[in-house]
Amino acid sequence: MTIQSGSDLDGRTIGEIAATLPGATAVFRKFKMDFCCHGDADVGDMARQCGVDTSDLAEALDALEKSKTPVPTTPETDELIDHILRYHETHRRELPQLITLARKVETVHAGHPQAPHGLADLLHQMRGELEVHMKKEELILFPAMRRGPRARFDAPIAQMRHDHDDHGEQMRRMETLTGDFTPPAGACRSWQALCTGAAKLAEDLMEHIHLENNILFPRYQGALAS
Ligand SMILES: [Fe+2]
Ligand SMILES: [Fe+2]
Repeated sequence: MTIQSGSDLDGRTIGEIAATLPGATAVFRKFKMDFCCHGDADVGDMARQCGVDTSDLAEALDALEKSKTPVPTTPETDELIDHILRYHETHRRELPQLITLARKVETVHAGHPQAPHGLADLLHQMRGELEVHMKKEELILFPAMRRGPRARFDAPIAQMRHDHDDHGEQMRRMETLTGDFTPPAGACRSWQALCTGAAKLAEDLMEHIHLENNILFPRYQGALAS
C-alpha cells in the first residue's frame, strides 16, 4: 500500500487501512475519525466529512509506512544505537494504543469463544517491563557503550539478555492469545486492528532484540568479542 497524496486515499475504506496498516488506528484517532463504527466508509470521503485535510492524513499514513527503516548491514555503533532507539520510541507509541484496543475487544466480545482474554493485562505488563528495561539501556548501558568503544560490559549485558528472554516468552503468550495474530471470521475492525497491531509489535520486538543480542552486544562482551 502506498499513500503519498490525498488522492491515494480515494477508493480505500477506513477499515481496510486500520486493519492492514499498523499504527493507522492511532492516526485516525488523532484526526478524530471513527475507524470502528464507520469501517466501510471511503477514507477520503470520511476525511472530508470530518473536516480533515486529506494531504495531512496521507502524509501521516505515509510516515507510518516509512517508519520501518531498514538497518544498514554493518552500522557503526552510534548509528546502530540510534536505530535501536527508534524501536524504543515505536514501542512506547504503539503499546498504549494496543492496550486500549485489547481492553475494548475483550469487553465487547467477552462471550466470544476466541476472545483474547488476558491480552490487555499481558500488554500492560509488557509495557511496564519494557519501559524499565529500555530506561536501563538508554540511561546507563548505551551511553557507556558510546563512550567506551572497546569496553566490556559482560554483567549488564547478561542481565539485558535475560530480560530479552522474558520479553520473548511474553511475545509467545501474545501469539497464543491472539490465535497467531489471526482474528476469527467476521471479526470487527477493532479486533482485526488489534491482531495487526500485535503482530507488528511482535515483529518489531523480535528485530529490536535481534539487533541488540546479535549485533550490538557481542561488540562489548569479552568472551564473544572477536
Ligand atoms: Fe532496546
Ligand atoms: Fe534490550
